[in-house]
Amino acid sequence: MKKINLSIVIILSFVNLGYSQDGQAALDEIIKAWAAPNEFPDHVILSASEDPAHAIGINWRTHVENTAGYVEIAKAGPGPDFKNSSEKIPAKRVVINSSEATKDGFAASFFEVQLDQLIPNTLYAYRVGNDDFKSEWHQFSTAKETPSPLSFLYVGDAQNYILELWSRVIRNAYKKAPEADFFIHAGDLVNAAHDESEWNEWFAAGSFIHGEIPAVAVPGNHEYRGLDYKNPRENRELSVQWNAQFNFPTNGPKGLEETCYYVDYPDMRLIALNSNREIEQQAQWLDKVLSENEKKWTVLTYHHPVFSASTGRDNETLRSLWKPIFEKHQVDLALQGHDHSYSRGAVYEKPIAMERDKDQKTVLGPVYVVSVSGGKMYSLSEKGWGPYGATIGKKGERIQLFQHISIDGDRLIYQSFDATGALFDRFELHKKNGKNIYID
Ligand SMILES: [Fe+2]
Repeated sequence: MKKINLSIVIILSFVNLGYSQDGQAALDEIIKAWAAPNEFPDHVILSASEDPAHAIGINWRTHVENTAGYVEIAKAGPGPDFKNSSEKIPAKRVVINSSEATKDGFAASFFEVQLDQLIPNTLYAYRVGNDDFKSEWHQFSTAKETPSPLSFLYVGDAQNYILELWSRVIRNAYKKAPEADFFIHAGDLVNAAHDESEWNEWFAAGSFIHGEIPAVAVPGNHEYRGLDYKNPRENRELSVQWNAQFNFPTNGPKGLEETCYYVDYPDMRLIALNSNREIEQQAQWLDKVLSENEKKWTVLTYHHPVFSASTGRDNETLRSLWKPIFEKHQVDLALQGHDHSYSRGAVYEKPIAMERDKDQKTVLGPVYVVSVSGGKMYSLSEKGWGPYGATIGKKGERIQLFQHISIDGDRLIYQSFDATGALFDRFELHKKNGKNIYID
């Protein structure tokens, strides 16, 4: 509460300053103070692990003076007594100093715990902190160990107006599917990679949702900026906070840890790719990971679309290097971002000659989706699809969306909802004789 009261006092002072240069400097200071950590844990987030039935990552941050922290974890119970059987797991700490990389930067302690001996299909309660300052107890469920219905949420770029406008999307997504197994963020979570106030907006908008539904995230182009904030376009590097604030698997290619990886559910392999770097290296890795994949369903997420949804944003390299591998291994779904509009479509295995064929159309490779969740919008263009052999099934522009995907046996149901919670798009995939029947 102390921090909020202080902010109110400073904001009131600023109102009297008007819009002078001094006023801008004062505003910058207010925002910097708002984004800075204190002794209490904040930015608490769960990250999906390679084996979500048994393992999960937990991260948080505090001010840099906190040098140690731990997670307390127990099986959740109906009353407060579950705490009596909680266990303390010490955290790894890294100090990240973002003050060179962003003008609102500072040094902060980031804490990370990887829990890896969890019981499948179990509701756990946990809190983070130290002996003096702790978070509230959060709850999460581990995945089941045997093939079972599964569902997850997916959003495209949050990126702009994050607290102002993205908040209603992530909160509506949670209302629609509070039991979702994980939450995909398909890149450009923020606009300026290292900016502390933007990350603070992202965590404030999602609030406790980040601490209760495991995240799966990939970096977009906006997660890469120069490490000197005065030259943001030179020598772009991944957000300095990325590896410290997330805890994604490191089962991808060397050098792309926590940005290229896979997560295995009994019926589905989810593969996250980094479409910013090492496209060819990832193509080889992907081919191998898909060759070894025995899961019924395969879902990909990465930032730059194979079929672009807006003008002048074609990604030819991805299309030539990745798409043939998607098709070779019959990937089911490719969840993308970047274009700030909406398109959903696929490459049909054979042309649709008659109306009745529509009910039995099969697809070559995945159904591709481009979606946006934040407030920045670009005009839609269909030129990135037809000329490359793909057909759009649904399109939209100037609409903030989230998606809920559920898988049950041979059936996948995809639904896209706008920021008010209204249904915007829907299709199904049915597995039949080794093919995907695409019903939209
Ligand atoms: Fe982007």
